[in-house]
Amino acid sequence: MSDKQNGNTHKDTSSEPPLLEVRDLRTYFFTREGTVKAVDGVSFAVQRGEIRGIVGESGCGKSMTALSILRLVDKPGRIVSGEVCFKGEDLLEKSAQEMTKVRGEQISMIFQEPKSSLNPVFRVGTQLVEVLKVHHVAKRKANELRAVELLREVGIPDPERRVSNYPHEMSGGMAQRVMIAMGMALAPDLLIADEPTTALDVTIQAQVLDLIRRLRDEHGMAVMLITHDMGVVAEMADIVTVMYAGTAVEEAATEPLFDEPLHPYTQGLIASIPVMGQIKERLDVIPGNVPNLIDMPPGCRFAPRCRARVEHGLTRCEVEEPHMIEARPGHFVRCWLYEDGGEDNA
Ligand SMILES: Nc1ncnc2c1ncn2[C@@H]1O[C@H](COP(=O)(O)OP(=O)(O)O)[C@@H](O)[C@H]1O
Ligand code: SF4
Ligand SMILES: [Mg+2]
Repeated sequence: MSDKQNGNTHKDTSSEPPLLEVRDLRTYFFTREGTVKAVDGVSFAVQRGEIRGIVGESGCGKSMTALSILRLVDKPGRIVSGEVCFKGEDLLEKSAQEMTKVRGEQISMIFQEPKSSLNPVFRVGTQLVEVLKVHHVAKRKANELRAVELLREVGIPDPERRVSNYPHEMSGGMAQRVMIAMGMALAPDLLIADEPTTALDVTIQAQVLDLIRRLRDEHGMAVMLITHDMGVVAEMADIVTVMYAGTAVEEAATEPLFDEPLHPYTQGLIASIPVMGQIKERLDVIPGNVPNLIDMPPGCRFAPRCRARVEHGLTRCEVEEPHMIEARPGHFVRCWLYEDGGEDNA
């Protein structure tokens, strides 16, 4: 599905089979109040060496998509259908033991709160050595040296000293670098970064994003970058999936997505990117909230918030869910404005 036109520098691998292919993934939570359709038919692919942005407001199902890929969804949540093909094998078919190996060696994940992911009672070097030890049969001394090297690689100054720090002795930015070092320790093919910079100051945010990009460039690992921030996506991603209420609503290479966003939701997200020196009222751009995922509207999930629907007098939006269609070459959208001749068909 990916078609690179945005001129980013990484190797064009669009003709190769994808590293990761998620097909029609559904993850529901079975609660007393009803079934929460957190992920409800999401499909996308990640090519080797590519940065795939997954963007959408809070509660759209981004994290649950990531956790589903790694089979880390807790009860009452359950993956009810779909496929997660990684290097041609469906991860949903693998045993728990096989998944532990995949998580350790092939797919790493980093989260928003680096400090809560680190163990507060162990020195960061010890935690890095533990990661190396579990998966490699190397001598203790070699692992310790490697831990220092990893800290150096993620840009931690004075790594020989820092390796003895406890997490509380580090800033949020340094702790996130340590998390990235742990994620990189086993040279994974895919790094899933879920809001990796959301908890950090703006300057530190830029440094951590630079680091992720540099590691991609140097090691050729693919990155699935999850964020609510369109600015981060514009800066980082080669190709973007926009999610809304548990489903993908638009997909395109970054440049065409920002040049000509097709979905009214994407248009709203882009319009709400703060411009330097200018404060925009986000709520003014996309009024309303993500719908209750227990009680989804029957037609287009964005219909209650969509101005385009009203402006174009579309009636089917509230009745029938639109399909994901290729509206431009390599540019996919789920909106009746582009289907069956669009508004003529209303
Ligand atoms: N334990 C849970 N029980 C019920 N619903 C849940 C649970 N965890 C997450 N959800 C639902 O899944 C939806 C998607 O969550 P999430 O993937 O974390 O969104 P995002 O990462 O995009 O902010 C949320 O709207 C939430 O209501
Ligand atoms: S299908 Fe209709 S309601 Fe949904 S985004 Fe398109 S125009 Fe708006
Ligand atoms: Mg999240």
